[in-house]
Amino acid sequence: MSYRILLIIFAIISTAQTRAEQSSCVSCHMSSEMVSDTSIAVAFSADDIHAKAGFDCTDCHGGDPRLGFVESDPELAMDPAKGYKSASNRHQIPGLCSGCHSDIEFMKKYNPRLPADQFQLYKTSVHGKLLYNDKSDKVAVCTDCHGTHGILPSSDSRSKVYYNNIPYTCKECHSDTSYMKSFTQTGEPLPTDQFDKYSQSIHGIKVLEEGDKSAPACNSCHGNHGASPPNLSSVSAACGECHPNNQEFFNNSPHKEAWIEMELPECEQCHGNHLIMPVSDNMVGTEGDALCIECHDDDSPGLIAAAGMKTDIDSLKTVLAITESAINMAEKKGVESGQSKFDLGRSNDALIQIRSAVHTFDPDKIAEIGKPAIDNALNVKASVDNSLKDIKMRQYGLGASLIVIILIVLGLRKKIKEVDRKINLEN
Ligand code: HEC
Ligand code: HEC
Ligand code: HEC
Ligand code: HEC
Ligand code: HEC
Ligand code: HEC
Ligand code: HEC
Ligand code: HEC
Ligand code: HEC
Repeated sequence: MSYRILLIIFAIISTAQTRAEQSSCVSCHMSSEMVSDTSIAVAFSADDIHAKAGFDCTDCHGGDPRLGFVESDPELAMDPAKGYKSASNRHQIPGLCSGCHSDIEFMKKYNPRLPADQFQLYKTSVHGKLLYNDKSDKVAVCTDCHGTHGILPSSDSRSKVYYNNIPYTCKECHSDTSYMKSFTQTGEPLPTDQFDKYSQSIHGIKVLEEGDKSAPACNSCHGNHGASPPNLSSVSAACGECHPNNQEFFNNSPHKEAWIEMELPECEQCHGNHLIMPVSDNMVGTEGDALCIECHDDDSPGLIAAAGMKTDIDSLKTVLAITESAINMAEKKGVESGQSKFDLGRSNDALIQIRSAVHTFDPDKIAEIGKPAIDNALNVKASVDNSLKDIKMRQYGLGASLIVIILIVLGLRKKIKEVDRKINLEN
């Protein structure tokens, strides 16, 4: 009993308390004597952005936060006559949250930088459509992705939607085969391998293992709330946001039209979507792993182009390798090679450029970048060879002058001995 009186005194003297801390709902829901699960009120008071912004339980649940705790009577607080509603079911949650979050004027007062379009977008997503059209309540609602009583800003690294937590949040449902088993895609069960594949992909490794914010999490391609990220017409258009050169080359290539006619997904056709792996130069060409042979017959313009591109890439790589080993050899012999390495950098950069320019599927374009890069590398090689020759010449020169010096020394010794002998004889 006495701890309650203390609490009340504390409530009176402490003026800096938030509404949540003063609320009878919080006080009672924090008392393990009164409720079965205190974690809800604890999480809400400790961290929830809504508690920090001055909201309390009644802003979502209604009821009277002044009554009930002292009297130990939940019904005084949780009184339907005072607007109390029992916990929302899943269908009602987006409507509950957007009561505030879609009200631009209201939201501006708290945080003018927050968009107020989540609900609008949500209704366009597969999640939102299924919730409202098919009445499936297994789809994600606001609280599945944000939590319920410990909601954090997305910039907080503990948030369920902090960029490198997002894949785990989506995985909760999308990797759960039994949870997802009632959903299909063109007659087949909807795949549940997105996270597994993504986590092995170059994107997944960057985000999950290296914490690289520039690589995509699930939402970068699928959008946070909408069917696709804002301003993009489709999920596959997301690639171009981060790989703009490849996108532009592709758009101006003969494949653009062909892809539209065949209704192929642009980048995915060659790279996949969840299991995107680092590329290799063997993806271009006329044999083995080359993608080109999947669609182009022998002697077709497509394969002739592929052969030309592959030859230019291989030639550049060969010249680069030879020049690099010449530089290494020269370094071992003590030749200063900083400048050569710097000069060769231009050819290395060209190879990187070519891997992107491959998306023109135009051998002339590859040659335009490749030929000068090959010439440059050959020039560097020639100058390294020259310095090696210089060193050899200097070594020869040094050798020759050493011999002369030795001869002179020997001659001098002989002379000195002769002089010595003469002096000895004379004495
Ligand atoms: C931002 C809105 C919001 C606030 C604020 C809020 N709740 Fe909830 N609460 C919900 C929603 C939505 C549910 C429905 C459960 C779900 O799907 O997560 C819920 C469910 C509950 C439940 C049912 C148990 C459960 O987990 O399903 C309890 C108890 C509860 N809330 C207590 C509280 C208390 C006590 C406070 C204040 C400390 C509070 N809530 C503040 C939105 C809120
Ligand atoms: C005197 C203690 C007490 C007070 C005050 C109190 N509650 Fe509760 N509340 C309970 C108990 C007991 C339960 C039953 C569940 C349990 O044991 O955890 C409950 C359950 C709930 C639930 C879940 C019930 C459901 O099925 O929807 C919500 C939501 C909730 N309270 C919100 C509030 C809100 C909002 C306030 C303040 C207006 C409040 N409570 C005030 C004791 C209290
Ligand atoms: C499928 C998961 C998912 C669902 C469902 C979801 N959100 Fe989000 N939400 C996110 C992600 C991801 C972010 C962005 C994180 C970031 O900015 O990196 C976000 C961001 C936000 C933000 C910060 C401002 C912004 O728009 O970027 C608010 C506010 C928000 N969500 C509210 C809601 C509300 C309200 C609902 C329900 C109508 C909802 N969310 C449903 C995943 C979800
Ligand atoms: C009573 C109005 C109200 C309700 C109801 C409400 N919110 Fe909020 N919410 C706000 C306000 C205001 C902010 C901004 C607080 C700030 O930035 O100081 C906010 C902030 C957030 C943020 C943090 C955004 C960011 O990244 O900075 C998320 C996420 C969020 N709310 C999700 C939800 C979810 C999910 C629900 C429903 C369960 C919900 N809100 C219900 C008013 C509300
Ligand atoms: C609460 C469980 C749940 C969570 C969490 C969840 N989803 Fe879903 N999602 C579903 C269900 C159920 C479907 C409906 C399956 C279907 O499309 O028929 C779905 C559908 C989708 C679809 C459409 C698939 C298609 O083409 O039919 C995409 C894309 C998607 N979710 C992405 C995400 C992303 C990204 C996240 C994380 C930010 C996420 N989901 C979080 C349950 C969830
Ligand atoms: C690099 C972009 C990208 C990333 C990252 C990504 N997706 Fe996808 N996802 C796609 C594309 C493209 C499709 C093909 C469907 C389409 O074109 O609408 C797809 C399809 C899906 C589908 C439909 C079923 C299927 O497998 O075809 C689901 C569900 C889905 N993704 C969930 C996720 C989840 C969960 C994550 C994170 C673990 C994720 N995606 C990460 C691009 C991406
Ligand atoms: C949010 C930005 C972002 C989006 C969206 C994105 N990527 Fe990436 N992608 C990256 C980053 C960052 C890397 C890692 C680059 C590096 O360091 O090698 C990468 C790597 C790659 C690689 C491997 C490159 C290599 O050097 O081996 C390929 C292929 C790729 N992405 C294709 C795609 C495709 C196809 C899509 C769309 C389905 C896509 N990306 C969407 C940022 C993105
Ligand atoms: C998914 C099938 C597919 C793949 C893979 C593919 N192409 Fe094509 N390509 C086409 C189609 C269809 C055309 C339109 C003209 C045609 O039917 O040959 C085309 C046209 C071309 C053209 C224009 C010449 C012409 O026939 O009009 C070139 C050059 C070309 N492709 C090169 C390549 C190279 C190089 C690769 C490998 C990196 C490649 N393609 C991979 C389907 C493909
Ligand atoms: C016809 C098949 C094909 C299509 C379509 C395609 N690519 Fe590629 N992509 C390749 C090949 C082949 C390579 C490897 C080039 C090399 O390493 O020599 C490659 C390499 C890459 C790389 C790594 C090299 C670099 O630029 O950093 C990225 C990233 C990439 N592609 C993104 C994309 C994007 C984005 C799209 C869609 C706009 C796309 N690709 C469409 C065949 C394709």
